[in-house]
Parts: sequence; structure tokens; C-alpha cells
Amino acid sequence: MRRRSLIVANWKMHGTVASVQSYLETMVARAMPTGPEVVICPPFTLLPAAVLIATGSEVVIGAQNCHWEDKGAFTGEVAPTMLVDLGVRWVIVGHSERRQYFGESDQTAAARSQAAQRAGLDVIFCLGETLEQRETGETMTVLERQSAVLAGLDPARLAVAYEPVWAIGTGRTATTVQAQEAHAALRRRLAGLLGTEAAAALRILYGGSVKPDNAAALLAQPDVDGALVGGASLDVEGFCAIIHAAPGGGRGAGE
Ligand code: 13P
Repeated sequence: MRRRSLIVANWKMHGTVASVQSYLETMVARAMPTGPEVVICPPFTLLPAAVLIATGSEVVIGAQNCHWEDKGAFTGEVAPTMLVDLGVRWVIVGHSERRQYFGESDQTAAARSQAAQRAGLDVIFCLGETLEQRETGETMTVLERQSAVLAGLDPARLAVAYEPVWAIGTGRTATTVQAQEAHAALRRRLAGLLGTEAAAALRILYGGSVKPDNAAALLAQPDVDGALVGGASLDVEGFCAIIHAAPGGGRGAGE
């Protein structure tokens, strides 16, 4: 089964009102209904401007996190219903930076994902092992533990992002063999959790130092259905080059 490629920009804590405008105007002018699905996730402050420019286009806007309650006394937090109210369609949950710096656990990531889906958002659920875990042969144990929470989610509103922590922002990408191996193992795991059909339809994205020059090889792997791009997504031309490198993007394998 060929799944439509999903290419996601995670701007992390970068961007200004001026930069979101010119970036999105370029993206909106170039995105094609037949190409890969494109989601841009700027920081919270830029979501209103991003949604305004992207509405009615092929470009979809996502957030980088959300709370697990719909409202309440949670100073500094943003509810998934607030994101929906704004016109946001996707949310990234469980990113390794949230796990590493902000105390995100499997339980809180599960609660956020469930609340997000309940509100009507599609979830990009992130998981991945650290370098130490890979070197001690624990990769699959970690992925199994982190993915267990997916059993409670609606697969129709879900994408999974495999982001080996050692490849994030380091310039050290997983090899195509390592990526395909992890993605195939994750898909087998998801078949057990969600059913074979749902697992076959679900998109598993790779993230970790994806750049214009390594994207085509990674995205050509049979179980790599897209990319979650950090640093390289900040430059609109570089991000467009990654989109073009995806199958269906105009110069992917066999096109
Ligand atoms: P980099 O592409 O900068 O390595 O970041 C990956 C990532 O964390 C995307 O969510």
C-alpha cells in the first residue's frame, strides 16, 4: 500500500510574525493537492497568523503541544479545544525535547493525545530511543513501551514519528537501513495494538537531521511515509526541497 507522504515542519522555538508570513505565502503558492500532505507547526504565538494565511490552501497548520484538559486553572497551558477554535488541525505530542526537558512521560503523552483527538485534532505521536539505549540493545524495548499508549487512540487521526534522540539536531541521521528497520518493527507492533489494516494505513514519519540531501533516500524506504523536520524546516527553500524529495513530491523515487 502506498500511503500519501506526510511532511511536517517543526519550527520548535523559532520564528517571528514577519517570518511566518513570507514563509507561508511561499508554501501556499507551491503546495499541490496531489503532492505530499504538508503540515507546518510554528510556536503558539504564530498560530493565528499561520492559520490566517493557510486557510483555504493545501497547507495545514499544527501546534507543537497541547494540554490534556479542555479548560481550567493551568497557567501557561493551551487546551486542544483552543487549538481547534483557532483552526489548527494537527498537534505534535510526546516530542523527545518535551520528554527530556519538561517532564513528559508516557502517561502525560497518552493523556494529551487522547484529549487532542477528542477535540478533533490529528496527532503526531513522537517516540524514539536515546544513544545509550541503542548502544545497549534496548531500542525495541523502548519503542514498545512508548508505543503502548497508542492502543487507546483513533488510528484514523494519528501519525507516528520515529525520532531517534541521537539524531535530533546532531547532524547524525539514522541510515536508511536503521530507519527502515525501526519503522518496519514499529508497524508490526502497531498491527498488534491497532489491527493489521489500521497499521498498514498509518503513516510512520522519520525525524532526526532530515535535510534536502538525505531526504530522498530516507523517504524511499517502504515503511518511511514522511518526515518530521526540525532545523531544515526553518528555511522555506530547504523545506520545499524535502517535500519534492518525497514520493509524490515531483522528484522522489520512480517519478
Ligand atoms: P532536527 O531536524 O533539527 O534534527 O530536529 C528533528 C526534530 O526533532 C523534529 O521534531
